[in-house]
Amino acid sequence: MTDQIRWGVIGSGGIAKRRTIPEGIVPAPNATLTAVFDTNADANAEVANAFDAKAARSLDELLQTDIDAVYVGSPVHAHYDHVMACAAAGKHVLCEKPLGMSPGEAEVMIAACEKQGIQLGCALMMRFLAQHREARRLIDQGKLGKPVYARAQLSCWFPPMEGAWRQDPKLGGGGSLIDLGGHCVDLLEMFFGKVVKVACFINNTVHDYASEDSAVTLLAFENGAMGSVDTFFCIPDASSKNALELYGSMGSIHATGTIGQGEAGEMTAYFEEETGGYDAQQTRGGGEGVTIAPEPVNMYKAEIESFSQALLDGKPSPVGHEVGLRSQQVLTACYESAASGKAVTLL
Ligand SMILES: NC(=O)c1ccc[n+]([C@@H]2O[C@H](COP(=O)([O-])OP(=O)(O)OC[C@H]3O[C@@H](n4cnc5c(N)ncnc54)[C@H](O)[C@@H]3O)[C@@H](O)[C@H]2O)c1
Repeated sequence: MTDQIRWGVIGSGGIAKRRTIPEGIVPAPNATLTAVFDTNADANAEVANAFDAKAARSLDELLQTDIDAVYVGSPVHAHYDHVMACAAAGKHVLCEKPLGMSPGEAEVMIAACEKQGIQLGCALMMRFLAQHREARRLIDQGKLGKPVYARAQLSCWFPPMEGAWRQDPKLGGGGSLIDLGGHCVDLLEMFFGKVVKVACFINNTVHDYASEDSAVTLLAFENGAMGSVDTFFCIPDASSKNALELYGSMGSIHATGTIGQGEAGEMTAYFEEETGGYDAQQTRGGGEGVTIAPEPVNMYKAEIESFSQALLDGKPSPVGHEVGLRSQQVLTACYESAASGKAVTLL
């Protein structure tokens, strides 16, 4: 390998074209885009032309190209076949979330990559957002005190559309929970640690497609804290502020708009030096709080840069397959809970 990882892309016409190629692979100094493949040949040619890459006419042609790593940006139902093909061809692979349709698929994908000695990463890029990293650092420093409660919200307006794979659980694995909730659960585990129990409701509140358009989950963390994740396909984009709220015995961190694809969003911390005695008046002076505004980081660039660097250094990727598998396990427990009407304990 040289000092740049040569990337191929499978499913070039979606999030790859919108974000991962222009904001990630192209600007990352240790990455270069070599070839792209999409079953939509016109969309593929357009991306290849725009970013000066080879337009492969088949998956085999892409995998036979001189590339080191592949970004899988295809729909969820295709992740398994695509990762398995990359593994067979000996190409490192960064797969979009979720890692396949089920924990079972994820486990087989992981085993195949391990057998071939290649890395499998999961594109949970919100872990790289500068404010999220700073919040994590503050929590690790103990500024929140004992973690008490965490909430993550990610919603959008997703009306019925012909052929939309997210609206058919056989193609997307589910609806708003797996599509949006995967990021939320993953972030909350990054902040508060392992989830050990979930209780989930899903529903079709507004849209009548087969996947759920509404999901609310209660979480119990191993450290005793509690949490909730709310994800909807039926709330207008501008009405969902994508809240992130982290509470502890010594304070709280509140954000809006940091959960999402952009670098926008505001985060404020309210920390107390000491919690003091009980105040029967419940006077809430509270103060202004401290704005958490570190130097912005483009999440897609950071994700590609960090995966590429792990390959160059021969070290495990910081957001590796274990994070993807974990996310699948928690989401599966949520769907089990929604189906049974009971809380589900995770092993
Ligand atoms: N991390 C993020 O910011 C983010 C955002 C959106 C989507 N995603 C994830 O990315 C993946 C794709 O989502 P999307 O919104 O880009 O979907 P999309 O439908 O917009 O795009 C998928 C692309 O894959 C192509 N495709 C379909 N089947 C294929 C196949 N068998 N082989 C090759 N190409 C194929 C389609 O033609 C299309 O161009 C999903 O896993 C989704 O969860 C991640």
